[in-house]
Amino acid sequence: MKRRTVSLLWLPASVAIVYLASIAVLQGADNQPPPEDVESLRGSEPVGEVPAAPELKKYPKERVPMDLQYVGQPPLIPHSIRGYEITANSNKCLTCHALENAKSARAPGIGISHYRGRDGKILADVSPSRYFCTQCHVPQANAKPLVPNTYEPVESLKKP
Ligand code: HEC
Ligand code: HEC
Repeated sequence: MKRRTVSLLWLPASVAIVYLASIAVLQGADNQPPPEDVESLRGSEPVGEVPAAPELKKYPKERVPMDLQYVGQPPLIPHSIRGYEITANSNKCLTCHALENAKSARAPGIGISHYRGRDGKILADVSPSRYFCTQCHVPQANAKPLVPNTYEPVESLKKP
């Protein structure tokens, strides 16, 4: 009975020894200098401060399109685009706005200008130069101008 208690006491002790030994070994491995051929894309730049996400309430809920400010302005997007992906393989915007989908999605189809290639010829599909929609179109927001300015819309677009 007594011998059994002693050997039972050994069990946690030996577990602890193995545990401490493995920590020592692993720490030793940690101290190794990193292999020279491994390089992160960021290089040695530290991670900068992550800016806070923009306030969602800035985006007006009602889908009233804001007025255009100048002739040829890409219209602002009157709806949220959160989670709408535009990648090399898929474009969420086109699932509603491509001419072939616009009618069934009850969305305004993209104009013929979006099908015009660099050389001015009309293509059978959206021109690659118009593929990344958010290059030109941004969701409308009730945001204060970042810098004060005296900009006014052109006469022809001014509301009486
Ligand atoms: C689920 C369908 C759907 C998707 C996806 C979608 N839209 Fe729209 N979009 C609409 C509808 C419908 C309207 C018409 C106004 C409204 O109801 O919000 C519209 C309006 C617009 C307008 C305003 C057009 C005008 O003449 O004023 C723009 C610009 C626009 N969308 C761009 C985009 C972009 C860019 C994306 C992708 C980031 C996108 N949309 C994704 C359905 C969609
Ligand atoms: C190079 C800038 C540019 C890109 C990229 C672009 N657009 Fe446009 N978009 C415009 C301009 C400018 C207009 C207004 C004049 C016109 O129709 O060409 C417009 C108009 C629109 C309209 C309104 C059409 C109408 O007849 O009222 C919709 C909807 C639209 N774009 C959706 C999209 C979608 C979806 C994409 C991505 C597949 C996209 N745009 C990519 C510049 C751009």
